Amino acid sequence: MDHFLYRNGSLHAEDVPLSEIAASVGTPFYCYSSATLTRHYRLFKDALDPLPNMVCFAIKSLSNVAVLKLLGDLGAGMDVVSAGEYLRARAAGVPGDRIVFSGVGKTREEMRIALEGGIRQFNIESEPEMRALSEVATALGATAPITIRVNPDVDARTHEKIATGKSENKFGIPIARAREVYAEAARLPGLRIVGIDVHIGSQLVELEPFEQAYKKVAALTETLRADGHTISRLDLGGGLGIPYTRSNEAPPLPVEYGALIKRTLGHLGCEIEIEPGRLISGNSGVLVSKVIYVKNGEGRDFLILDAAMNDLVRPAMYSAHHDIIAVTEPGPAAPTQAFDVVGPVCETGDTFAKARELPLVVEGDLVAFRSAGAYGAVMANEYNSRPLVPEVLVRDDHFAVIRPRPSYDDMIKRDIVPDWL
Ligand code: LLP
Repeated sequence: MDHFLYRNGSLHAEDVPLSEIAASVGTPFYCYSSATLTRHYRLFKDALDPLPNMVCFAIKSLSNVAVLKLLGDLGAGMDVVSAGEYLRARAAGVPGDRIVFSGVGKTREEMRIALEGGIRQFNIESEPEMRALSEVATALGATAPITIRVNPDVDARTHEKIATGKSENKFGIPIARAREVYAEAARLPGLRIVGIDVHIGSQLVELEPFEQAYKKVAALTETLRADGHTISRLDLGGGLGIPYTRSNEAPPLPVEYGALIKRTLGHLGCEIEIEPGRLISGNSGVLVSKVIYVKNGEGRDFLILDAAMNDLVRPAMYSAHHDIIAVTEPGPAAPTQAFDVVGPVCETGDTFAKARELPLVVEGDLVAFRSAGAYGAVMANEYNSRPLVPEVLVRDDHFAVIRPRPSYDDMIKRDIVPDWL
């Protein structure tokens, strides 16, 4: 459930008509609903209750500091994968002891920043990284709390570009080698082992791969404890999928996911950490765009929008589906037409949808891409020198621009022409 609904014939974000935001901010823009973000965070909290737990929002899915503050103020932890994300979480007021640092290639500089600023744990992904962290921590006179990310060799059955839990993927250490890697970690002076980490992929639409992975983690917990290690936390990663179409998708619910966690790992007495991104942010955001032209092509009609692949790259990059709806509610018997929905960028990949049945929109009409809150604005760029898309946050009947659209001048003046030219 989200808070983007038609009211009085017009699509609203909570109590605000999207057309009103468009008139004030211009298009395209991302719009997020505070109520939906809050609701989705709470679904996970409730699903894990009464296990000791921390829900660490995967910042990579939506990293605007205002959104992080909203979630942080609810008590959320944060999952970061770079110093930039770490500093965003801190700027949002999230204390270091609620931030976990994931990622396959943390640099020494990033380790230093997190150690100095305060960190709940590093999720280590390789032996060289573990040795580097021990050195950095020792030099600072600190001890770094760590989990080690194990690769359970489980097929997440999701898009190949976002599956991470198979042995051929670059993530984690093979679970079969975990004992020897933990033994080395225990000998390194700058580290303190606190638990195990696993993350098998994103947009998982079945629970079975999680179950396979979590059973392996449960067995490994017993083995590592028998070896004398302290395993008090299990970081189970993110990855629970969302419905991208209203009609036929029904991925498992957070409550079912929580029940699975309790069933497979609840007996171990560990604190459970999870790192959901998409399920919290995905359906909490839409991308609103205006129709620039309707172009009649050879055997097909193109809807040319003012949003493009630089604003929302998921369709071009993963062939991802986003529902596209008209901001003005079509009547129940309104005719529809098949459109190829495209942006103005000069490549054929800049196609959002092919032969999509849409109401008969015309030049100047607004449309909204649903489920665009996750991996939308964060993956946007300025390709074709299109200024970075702005972001708006709604709460009840008011909205705020939480990242303005840069002016052309802002964009161009970042470049420096050397004085020898
Ligand atoms: N934890 C780790 C270690 C991750 O690598 C990820 C996502 C998450 C948590 C959050 O996963 P989520 O709950 O959002 O599925 N750009 C792609 C998705 C990339 C996911 C990368 N890692 C997309 O647009 O589908």
